[in-house]
Amino acid sequence: MVLVCPSVLSADFTRLGEDCARVLEAGADMIHFDVMDGHFVDNLSFGLPVLECLHKAMPDAVMDVHLMISHPLRFVRRFVEAGADYLTVHVETTDNLPATLAAIHGCGCKAGLSLNPDTPVEAIFPYLEQLELVLVMGVVPGHGGQPFDPRALDKLAALRSECARRGLSPILSVDGGVKPGTTAPQCVAAGATALVAGSAVFGAQDAAAAVKQLKESV
Ligand code: DX5
Ligand code: ZN
Repeated sequence: MVLVCPSVLSADFTRLGEDCARVLEAGADMIHFDVMDGHFVDNLSFGLPVLECLHKAMPDAVMDVHLMISHPLRFVRRFVEAGADYLTVHVETTDNLPATLAAIHGCGCKAGLSLNPDTPVEAIFPYLEQLELVLVMGVVPGHGGQPFDPRALDKLAALRSECARRGLSPILSVDGGVKPGTTAPQCVAAGATALVAGSAVFGAQDAAAAVKQLKESV
């Protein structure tokens, strides 16, 4: 079954703990935590102190941290100490990627690599052996609630076959514009093994029902 990772970017921040507890209870597999620096992307979100609080309040929740920041290497250790279980950086970063992935593993964390819609999927291939997760963006990162870019489907399919060819099985996750009944099943058919959804979960009338619907994507 596909992993479901609600993105708290669309949660009610006055009730963040309750929102997370609700989706975890409904069967969500990880909490997707979007960190933005107003430089790598055109928006600001939240960071270390918020992750630390969430992790303390729910130490068993798996934290899938997506760093949309220009210098992830500087922050690797602090995000792992704050509670990241998966730490995903962007292939477009100007930081040294092998060093960044090695730093993530060196801190005992699982490493993810993400790519923007305009970045060719082959940019990920040199790093595949070093990854526990690949995060294909279905939107230009920075904001929730944008429409899905179907080029993500071709990337998922290409990643699935390249991973199979090399005998690798990182989580193939997709982030942005993922909706139950439409883009979610398309992504799963193309090769996604994890679905990140923000507005489709926390913007829904019933977040728990949305998680269950996503979980059943085939
Ligand atoms: C976008 C973030 C996403 C965002 C997805 O920059 O990385 O995780 O929360 O939002 P939706 O699911 O609303 O497209
Ligand atoms: Zn994200």
